[in-house]
Amino acid sequence: MQRQLSVKHLLGIKNLTAEDIELIFETAEEFKDVINRPIKKVPSLRDITIANVFFENSTRTKLSFELAEKRLSADVINFSSSGSSVKKGETLLDTVNNILAMKVDMVVMRHSSPGAPHFLSRHIEANIVNAGDGTHEHPTQALLDTFSIREKLGDIAGKKVVIVGDILHSRVALSNIFALQKMGAEVMVCGPITLLPKYISSLGVKVELDVRKALAWCDVANVLRIQLERQQIKYFPSLREYSLYYGINKKMLDGLDKEITVLHPGPINRGVELSSDVADSDQAIILDQVENGVAIRMAVLYLLASVSS
Ligand code: NCD
Repeated sequence: MQRQLSVKHLLGIKNLTAEDIELIFETAEEFKDVINRPIKKVPSLRDITIANVFFENSTRTKLSFELAEKRLSADVINFSSSGSSVKKGETLLDTVNNILAMKVDMVVMRHSSPGAPHFLSRHIEANIVNAGDGTHEHPTQALLDTFSIREKLGDIAGKKVVIVGDILHSRVALSNIFALQKMGAEVMVCGPITLLPKYISSLGVKVELDVRKALAWCDVANVLRIQLERQQIKYFPSLREYSLYYGINKKMLDGLDKEITVLHPGPINRGVELSSDVADSDQAIILDQVENGVAIRMAVLYLLASVSS
């Protein structure tokens, strides 16, 4: 029997099993071969229509999903809330039901409210992929991050990964914690105490306030952006001060007795969380993450489409 995902929607990493993640990775490896061939397209989703519904800004994620859908030969429609009837007061459910009335099979959604895709999944039949819900989860980002670490280091189990930065507001942080732990990594979070949620140690992660100690401990550092757009109050005095204490530069990495791997989900604020000499170094696998993102999203869409049939 063909292996299948245990879920119909990809709402978060929390409700995936390690077997689901393994299946996504193996499928992504096959699709990575496909997108590196001269003919990069397969007919796998030829009769499927996918709506990318984005209520929040996006560059990488939106392009990556759209490319993944096109490489799978799906029909694609794009909706973005700016310039739409959302501005005229339409509800989320009405907006999505109107899109679905056009016979759409899958919805990829980004929304600023945590839980928005979970809410939709209780009201509509189409498969839903969460492309980031507020400060909550960003499952395909965590899958592509974990896949990229595995590709670079050969295995995830037993590896030490630190997530540095705005743990409180970043959906990448929570999804990464779940994905890495499910695949057997040891996870640490590091940032100013004001940007670490109070519940964080209940997730079984180590907590470190000193970035130098965190770097000395880890094999991999996943460095996150300060989510200024989600901060209603001041969590630290200034970006300059943040960068002084938590910004990672080449000198710090060269001072370690090992070579660690550096990830960043983008967009990078050069000179704040990472200096350019780190972002552009061979230790950083930031562009591999982007390449792998397309293969991972192809795998997720392909596998979800076969769950519903
Ligand atoms: C992340 C996001 O949107 O959560 N970016 C992304 O998806 N590539 C991280 C961020 O915005 O900092």
